[in-house]
This record gives sequence, structure tokens and C-alpha cells, in this order.
Amino acid sequence: MKVLITGGSGFVGQRLCKALVEAGHIPLVVSRTPDKARGRLPEQALVRESVADFAEQAPSAIVNLAGEPIAEGRWTDKKKAELLRSRIDVTREIVELCARMKEPPAVLVSASAVGYYGNQGSREVTEQTTPHDEFAHRLCRDWEAEAVKAKDHGVRVAILRIGLVLDAGGGMLAKTTPLFKLGLGGKLGDGKQYMPWVHRDDIVAMILFLIEREDLSGPFNASAPNPVTNAEFTRALGQALNRPAVLPAPALALKLAFGEMSRLLLTGAKMRPKRFEEAGFSFRYERLDEALDAIFRS
Ligand SMILES: NC(=O)c1ccc[n+]([C@@H]2O[C@H](COP(=O)([O-])OP(=O)(O)OC[C@H]3O[C@@H](n4cnc5c(N)ncnc54)[C@H](OP(=O)(O)O)[C@@H]3O)[C@@H](O)[C@H]2O)c1
Repeated sequence: MKVLITGGSGFVGQRLCKALVEAGHIPLVVSRTPDKARGRLPEQALVRESVADFAEQAPSAIVNLAGEPIAEGRWTDKKKAELLRSRIDVTREIVELCARMKEPPAVLVSASAVGYYGNQGSREVTEQTTPHDEFAHRLCRDWEAEAVKAKDHGVRVAILRIGLVLDAGGGMLAKTTPLFKLGLGGKLGDGKQYMPWVHRDDIVAMILFLIEREDLSGPFNASAPNPVTNAEFTRALGQALNRPAVLPAPALALKLAFGEMSRLLLTGAKMRPKRFEEAGFSFRYERLDEALDAIFRS
């Protein structure tokens, strides 16, 4: 099977391409810098600059992961516009490709994020929860709405509302682990905000699950069944690294340093993967300590 992947050169995309190749499939990767991307991908992957470049390849499935990183730097008006544009433009190109193909792909699995729900305090969040209106919500809402348009062309659309993806070599652990190793780790603000997380192998397994399961569509919370608070996360990471994490970052300092982006660090949602559980998805990593152990042992 040929699977078109936007953002296939990224943290999740690289692992997905590896899994697809191991299962005998061919990844068709869209990247702004194909030469750079090829160096990070299995040699069986084909890499092109735009979605339209793959029209002749007639992919059977599309996975949409591309987007400007959200947790880097302050959310200036320019950055916010780029966060939205980078996601909407490529998603629109996917919908246009589906519209033009005689035989459109069977399925589009399109990324979104826990940010869809906005700040939810400590209440439990399922796919049915009403979102809190804020920038992260509007970004995810518009991104999802663009992807759902592929339905008009007979494509099954599944949306992944992704929690923090954990593994070595990228994502949030690549940023936090060096600080923790220096003994500079600590909770953020009061540490009560929830941080739904998912191991990178499980997010890849979720994508493959949604490609295969023809009966599944709509939004899916993509995180492990046991979300933790920031304080619990901090403790578990400190333990996994054998470093006490005792230097809290005060909320005010984070607000001054990062402005509105500090909401990503100081607020959260106790998101549960209700629909994945109901669909019988089996998690390789259900508990944070097991996931961190596996990551730091390898
Ligand atoms: N990792 C997480 O914890 C997490 C959590 C929630 C949601 N998500 C979402 O899941 C998706 C995949 O995550 P990831 O961690 O694999 O992301 P990533 O490592 O940042 O990779 C995303 C890819 O998007 C492309 N990209 C970056 N900036 C772009 C821009 N301005 N315009 C067009 N393309 C751009 C890049 O590909 P090229 O440079 O090759 O073009 C990059 O490899 C992302 O959309 C992310 O927002 C991730």
C-alpha cells in the first residue's frame, strides 16, 4: 500500500515511515526540503515537495502531520498566522488532491492536538467534551474542519487529538531531559495542570489502527489511558533519570518569558482515549513510569 504522509520527516513521521516500510508499505513523504528529509527516512520512502507531486502515485491512505512547531518561542501575531497557515494550506492541498483523483484514497488520518479542548482544569475530557475557547482551540478547530472536507470526496476521515508525544530524540523530552539531567528540573507553576501523554510507538500504532479499521472515523483522543498532572510527570521524569526535580518554575516567570504560549505549559486537559478504548486499541504503554523506563533504558 502507498501511504502519503505530510510532515513525514518529523518526530512522529519518521517512526511512522519506519513502521510502514517494515510492514511492506511505501511511504510517500511531502517535505519542504526533500534532500534533508531523505537523510532521515528509510530508503524505500519517496520524497517530494508538494502533495500534488504524488497525484500519479494514487496513494491508498493519507496521514497529515505537517505543521509549524507550536511549543517554540512566543506566539506573536506572525507566529500565530504561521501556525495556522502551515496547517491549513497543506490540509487544503490534500482535499484538493482527493477531489481530483478518480479513485481517492480510502482514508485520511489527520493530526490535531489536545489543545483542541483548551484549558479544562481537572475535569475528565473525552471526545464529547465542550472545548474552551482560546487560541489553541481555534487553531485545532480550523485544522480539523479543513481535513473533514475530504469526506465530500468519499474519503473516510479520522482526526487524532494528540497528547504530548514521548520518546528520545525529539518532542518535549528532548527539551526537558537535558535540564533534568543537570538537576534543573521542576514542576511548572502549581503543577496541577494535566499533561496527557503518549509514547511515540503508540501514536504510530494508533495511526496504523485507524488506517486499517474501516468502521472508524471522526475525532479520537490520542493519548495513554493514564494522564498525569505536571507535578506527577516531573516526579516520574526525575525518578527515571535518577535526578531529584526540585526547582519549580514559577507561573509568573513562565508568563513573562513566553507570554500567551505559557498556556501550553501552565494549563491542560485530563484527556482520556475513550474512543480508542471502545474500539479495542491495545496500548503498549499505559503507564508513564513504564513508558519512561522503556525510553531511557534503550
Ligand atoms: N509531538 C507532539 O508532542 C505533538 C503533540 C500534539 C500534536 N502534535 C502534532 O502532530 C504533528 C506531528 O508532530 P511531530 O512532533 O512529528 O512534529 P514535527 O517533528 O515538528 O514535524 C512536523 C513536520 O511538519 C513540517 N513543517 C514544520 N514547519 C512547517 C511549516 N511552517 N510549513 C509546512 N510544514 C512544516 C516539517 O517537515 P519538513 O521540514 O520536511 O517540511 C516537520 O518535519 C504536528 O502537526 C504537531 O502539531 C504533536
